Amino acid sequence: MIQTNRTILVIGATGAMGRPIIRQLLADEKNQWHIRALTRNSQSLQAKALLEIGQGRVELFQGDVNDVTSVSTAMQGMYGVFCNTDFWSSCSVAVEREQGIRMLEAAQAANIQHFIYSSLESCAYISEGKIPVAHFDSKAAVEHEIDWRRSHEFMQQIQQGWYSKHVTVLRTLAYLENMTAFFLPRTGLLSDGREGLIFSMPMADKPYPFVALDDIAWFTAYIFANLEEWGGRSLAIGSESLSIAQLAATFEQVTGIPAEYQPMSDAEYLALGFPNVHDALNQLRYHREYGPYRDHEQLRKIHPNLMTFEAWLKQTGWRGEAREVQKGVATGGK
Ligand SMILES: NC(=O)c1ccc[n+]([C@@H]2O[C@H](COP(=O)([O-])OP(=O)(O)OC[C@H]3O[C@@H](n4cnc5c(N)ncnc54)[C@H](OP(=O)(O)O)[C@@H]3O)[C@@H](O)[C@H]2O)c1
Repeated sequence: MIQTNRTILVIGATGAMGRPIIRQLLADEKNQWHIRALTRNSQSLQAKALLEIGQGRVELFQGDVNDVTSVSTAMQGMYGVFCNTDFWSSCSVAVEREQGIRMLEAAQAANIQHFIYSSLESCAYISEGKIPVAHFDSKAAVEHEIDWRRSHEFMQQIQQGWYSKHVTVLRTLAYLENMTAFFLPRTGLLSDGREGLIFSMPMADKPYPFVALDDIAWFTAYIFANLEEWGGRSLAIGSESLSIAQLAATFEQVTGIPAEYQPMSDAEYLALGFPNVHDALNQLRYHREYGPYRDHEQLRKIHPNLMTFEAWLKQTGWRGEAREVQKGVATGGK
């Protein structure tokens, strides 16, 4: 077992978000982090792959966020915790909210120095109940609880309050990489008669806000490296916001493959009929009507290499083919 107080427990370690975060933390030469990766199955391909990239600085810890004792044990001796709970394994707002709060309370009891909670927008609250998005609102409910506990510490004049000094909320967005899986363009005839790739989402001409997984990883490592500055604060990140027409035009310009945006109605999207399609549609409706806004200029001051779709296409060489993004999709949730 790794013996160091420079170890970070990553919850959601084997997933799409966790894997690049671990790579980025391991690349931080100054801090020389070690990683304890929580997983329900230390025999999975994704778990074993973490050991390979870790070169002795990653260990697996078998546990389950529904079993607080296992996570409390995992937290013993840790410096930090990164927590990305998985809404889709329960599909319940109440369960994910409870998981988040239990993780925070276990971390406070274990005297964790820095806890980063991975959150999403409070859609039901901001839209005044008009557009609830369950998998966003459940994390936002935990974020509200963090805010409430910070306020409580302030009112009680608790000078070194744990939530006010040791917890950072990192509010993310939909992954840019969803374009390679969930929102994969299809081959078809473009309106000018060329054969090409059709990008289709019910976004009308509104900007679609996204974040590249590498940017989430970068900001996570940056926050862990700067507890004094970020403990007790929240940061909303994003890489870029582009209309789907702009995405298609950028794709064609970079790859040379003909591409265009063909609008999709809400009814057509619902007719796709995949599980939780109503929640997925509400997310897009929310983006159409409320954004959210991200201050990319300000974010670029912190992270000058903030990703753009154009840079991502050049970096990854993506040409419209399907790629594996989420572990849950690849393994059926296990
Ligand atoms: N897709 C997006 O665009 C996006 C954007 C921002 C936030 N999110 C949020 O990210 C979460 C999903 O994470 P992901 O995208 O990394 O998905 P993923 O690739 O499917 O990974 C899911 C992760 O959650 C872990 N996990 C699931 N249930 C667990 C449990 N009971 N105890 C311990 N670990 C558990 C899995 O670990 P093991 O299987 O190894 O146990 C795995 O590491 C969702 O809540 C989603 O709302 C997604």
